[in-house]
Amino acid sequence: MQDTRSLFKKHFNQTPTHVVQAPGRLEVLGNHTDYNNGLVMAVAVDKYIHIAASPRTDGKVELVSSAFAAPEKFSVSDIKPNPAASWANYIKGVLLQLKKRGVQISGFNAAIHSTLPMGAGMSSSAALEVATAMTVRRLHPFILTDTGLGVPPVPNAKGELPPVNKVERMNFAKVCRAAENEFVGVPCGILDQTSSLFGKQSHVMEIDCASLTVEHAPLFGIAMVVCNSMVKHELVGGEYKELRDNCEAAARKLGVKFLRTTEMKQVLAAKSSLTEREFTCAHHVVSEIARVVAGERALRSNDMAQFGQYMFQSHESSRDHLRNSTEELDILVELARNHPACLGARLTGGGFGGATINMVTHHEAESFMAHMEAGYEKQTGVKMKPLVCMVVDGAN
Ligand code: GLA
Repeated sequence: MQDTRSLFKKHFNQTPTHVVQAPGRLEVLGNHTDYNNGLVMAVAVDKYIHIAASPRTDGKVELVSSAFAAPEKFSVSDIKPNPAASWANYIKGVLLQLKKRGVQISGFNAAIHSTLPMGAGMSSSAALEVATAMTVRRLHPFILTDTGLGVPPVPNAKGELPPVNKVERMNFAKVCRAAENEFVGVPCGILDQTSSLFGKQSHVMEIDCASLTVEHAPLFGIAMVVCNSMVKHELVGGEYKELRDNCEAAARKLGVKFLRTTEMKQVLAAKSSLTEREFTCAHHVVSEIARVVAGERALRSNDMAQFGQYMFQSHESSRDHLRNSTEELDILVELARNHPACLGARLTGGGFGGATINMVTHHEAESFMAHMEAGYEKQTGVKMKPLVCMVVDGAN
């Protein structure tokens, strides 16, 4: 927070009127299930995008980021991508979506600072989108309804706005996903944006991407450790779209709108009418959604050992069927499996690089991390520092 305020002061020579933060996320179970209208479990973690901002009245937006040298300036009435500042596209995309819904933006200055590792699959982009939407809400209070805008909320005597309710929170997630789909051009599902908005301290979110509802289940005695394979993860690349296209083609051939509504026996029976890739993608998605259902049951009976087994199985299915793992991610999961404190490990997020998530008994996290660091360097020659994450509340 302090770094963000200082960056703002240094660049704009004024004190910000608002500072917001939006957390990154870890996908715990349910790989590539979200855009198949499936089920997915995730946690919001204590690594954030922070935005310090203050309003302007000249219709201009000026952005500065601690991660990029050049600031970016544009008019609210003329929002377009600038290839020299593609980091600002996430912000511009959200502003366009809000404008489309009728939000009046008179301009603002903003400083952005991140404690989220970029490219590790922890959704720094969704956190930036969510932080942008929350910043605009503070600067120009509005209520997002299912159909457009409601009567603006009134700040209390201290200038604080009422908390965003569940329904509105999901509308924020939709706005942010639309920004990413339409302006940034990544055909992602709704997992990342929902996670940054619906996180709950020490709880796992259970997200149903068909009904767009979120439940929370408590987590006890567990440390979440992230191991970054240090291999770059870039969803704008074609691999993510290729998986999504295959899932959608498989659903069409199976006669359903989404793979969520089909079963393994139907996928197996249709094998000869699907391409090899459509079959393997459908196989993964259908089995993964069933694993999330089983995982929820294990979590609610506090059977963490069983839950961990589902995490390992999820990784195997991503590796063998969806094929979005990498040699490095597989090494990390096998190393984790060999440590007695590790209950479960799997790749998290889009795949094709990025990180693994490891569920570890709390009091043995240090020894687990030392084991991972040494083992990974020995096998790959790459230095990697495991990261313990606290499970936190979503953006507000
Ligand atoms: C990325 C996408 C999400 C989701 C995951 C895979 O993080 O942004 O929408 O599809 O990959 O589960």
